[in-house]
Amino acid sequence: MSNHTIPIVREQDFILIRSHIQELCAETGMNLINQTKLITAASELVRNILNYAKSGKVMMEIVSINARQGIKLTFTDEGPGIENLQAAMQDGYSTSSGMGLGLPGAKRLVSEFAIQSAPGKGTIVTLIHWKDGH
Ligand SMILES: Nc1ncnc2c1ncn2[C@@H]1O[C@H](COP(=O)(O)OP(=O)(O)O)[C@@H](O)[C@H]1O
Ligand SMILES: [Mg+2]
Repeated sequence: MSNHTIPIVREQDFILIRSHIQELCAETGMNLINQTKLITAASELVRNILNYAKSGKVMMEIVSINARQGIKLTFTDEGPGIENLQAAMQDGYSTSSGMGLGLPGAKRLVSEFAIQSAPGKGTIVTLIHWKDGH
């Protein structure tokens, strides 16, 4: 089973990350709609790391529980962390000039979404998208 960690430090990293996700999607046989959902969610998290933490990394792996297969992405950064996590998960909340839809939008797109963050402690976001999209 594949397990890649890719650093996130600059704009070009989007390309490599998207192509690795596509590879994992192909390996699991995930359909295009679900693949697109996962890549869209992942792109928002890469964007946030570049914008707010400047750098970080993403670990990508195929996970299976019983007969269920999916892709798990863990985004980690050691940036400033999020002061008001509850607010940050609401539509339209942004501390920059963003639309404030990255985190709540990503959560809606994937099967499972978890975030851990605290000021001065960085941020960890974990996504799982199951092959069946549920
Ligand atoms: N990795 C991160 N590190 C620090 N703060 C973050 C991070 N990701 C998100 N945030 C905070 O959460 C807010 C909401 O993020 P998001 O929903 O993506 O909206 P936007 O990026 O458009 O502001 C951001 O404005 C920022 O304050
Ligand atoms: Mg964002």
